Amino acid sequence: MAIYVTKPALPNIDSFLLRVRKIFEREVLTNQGPEVLELEGKIKNYLGVDHFHYVTNGTIALQLALEGLGIRGGEVITTPFSYVATTSAILWQRCKPVFVDIEINNFTLDPEKIQEAITPETKAIMPVHVFGYACEIEKINKIAKENNLKVIYDAAHAFGSSYKHNSLASFGDVSTLSFHATKLFHTIEGGAIE
Ligand SMILES: Cc1ncc(COP(=O)(O)O)c(C=O)c1O
Repeated sequence: MAIYVTKPALPNIDSFLLRVRKIFEREVLTNQGPEVLELEGKIKNYLGVDHFHYVTNGTIALQLALEGLGIRGGEVITTPFSYVATTSAILWQRCKPVFVDIEINNFTLDPEKIQEAITPETKAIMPVHVFGYACEIEKINKIAKENNLKVIYDAAHAFGSSYKHNSLASFGDVSTLSFHATKLFHTIEGGAIE
């Protein structure tokens, strides 16, 4: 018997095909079609977040977050302990990633070291809730506030995780999610920005 380390969850194929059939009948394939709106509404309710915008993947969600916050240059403090997209999104926005070490207990950015890495060029902090472990949210947000920096939480691993009864997707100036097939909840490919 094969024992998988991880295996993507798949829906019942008949109910999936029923939805596909409806899409074919409607012929609405892009631009806020009813399937996307339904998904956005349901996830927004489930997470209890104010804003939820579904996008093509978690990488573009990070880039949109930076773009939306007007960050197109300067330094962004982040973690080396993540999937490559965290750093590549920063580079695509023509920013310089500045790596800060992680804490031993939860693999997330060490707030003490964030403080040391701030320069006049720093524009934002991009921490990752690694494996769904919450970052030191209060400490990170305080440092950001004191230094006038934006915070974008990469919550790609954290769908369904919460901190003090709030979804991990609800913190910072923006949080992003990935719905890639390797994630606990997935849409084969997909992502979101909150
Ligand atoms: C921490 C982290 N950030 C971003 C991403 C990018 O998400 P996607 O593969 O949906 O582009 C991933 C994907 O695995 C990830 O693990």
